[in-house]
Amino acid sequence: MSKISAAITAVGAYVPEFVLTNQILETMVDTNDEWITARTGIKERRILKDDGKGTSFLAIKAAQNLIEKKGIDPKDIELVIVATATPDMKAASTAAFTATHIGATNAFSFDLDAACSSFLFGMSVAAKYIESGTYKKVLLIGADKMSSMVNYKDRATCIIFGDGAGAVLFEPNNESLGLQDEYLRSDGSGREFLQATYGGSSFPSTPEAIEEGKHFAFQEGKTVFKNAVFNMADAAVKMLERNQLTNDDIQWLVAHQANKRIVDATANRINLDDKKVMMNIHKYGNTTSATLPLLLHDYESQLKKGDNLIFAAFGGGFNWGSIYLKWAYNS
Ligand code: UT7
Repeated sequence: MSKISAAITAVGAYVPEFVLTNQILETMVDTNDEWITARTGIKERRILKDDGKGTSFLAIKAAQNLIEKKGIDPKDIELVIVATATPDMKAASTAAFTATHIGATNAFSFDLDAACSSFLFGMSVAAKYIESGTYKKVLLIGADKMSSMVNYKDRATCIIFGDGAGAVLFEPNNESLGLQDEYLRSDGSGREFLQATYGGSSFPSTPEAIEEGKHFAFQEGKTVFKNAVFNMADAAVKMLERNQLTNDDIQWLVAHQANKRIVDATANRINLDDKKVMMNIHKYGNTTSATLPLLLHDYESQLKKGDNLIFAAFGGGFNWGSIYLKWAYNS
């Protein structure tokens, strides 16, 4: 009997309407379009403006888009994972709310947080439930409302992040398509370089902390940049080497959109032509858990059954890694 592999069989996405351009940011902090474009590749990002709407709003929209496109009955979904670094609230799962609202009433659900690697790690988790034969329909959603943890007075972070969501469905495949291999790692000594310090259990929010903006995300950009370049590229190289792949065998690099220069450096390390590098950072900025599924959504029509995709991500924690996946359908 052939081994069951876990394939992505559908993609959905959602980004909010409001477009925060570099020109608007120029009116908010001391920055300019030329600097942002040259240093990050970002031209604009989407922001969820509506009061009281959190990450679940984005997640539900992306999931509904997938359900409609694929024409599935949400009652057939058995597990909903919401990969996110910005849950709706501390004490109630975003995934449970999302699953109920999309009508996945026969599913169990949970949130998964590994900062910018949440979706990548979620792919691994979703695939295991399928490969083991436990479930046949696992919905993985990557969603983040980064604007809820960005300090719009801090030019080092507010130019980077945006809001968005993407969703994929994992199903069993008997043609050996889907997830092939993974290399995932964490190093907690990187925690000090990228964090939102206050508002968690170590340092609960205080009026003083909020006044000083210590509940917002802070990063030491250069250190994160160096670690991201090294580790994302290193993980991608491992995927190629371990699976005896050359750059000619790879059709697409699907890399976390944190900074165009980090993605380019990863592509260079595996000698990949620009045409094979998925890129949409100019439109959305860094949407944390949503970058990878938003790429799949934007490039879905160009993907062909059997294409070899190398996923790579790096983020706070530090958490990083790479996944090798064979695409399972023509759209
Ligand atoms: O998703 C995973 C987590 N995040 C990342 O992967 C982000 C990784 N880091 C980065 O992408 C980059 O480090 C940044 C985009 C955040 C910053 O780019 P950089 O090339 O590392 O710039 P820098 O921090 O070294 O700053 C260079 C200069 C500084 O001025 P001086 O000291 O040379 O006079 C900064 O003050 O640019 C200045 N600067 C800015 N200037 C205009 C910093 N931010 C801005 C800005 N606009 N927004």
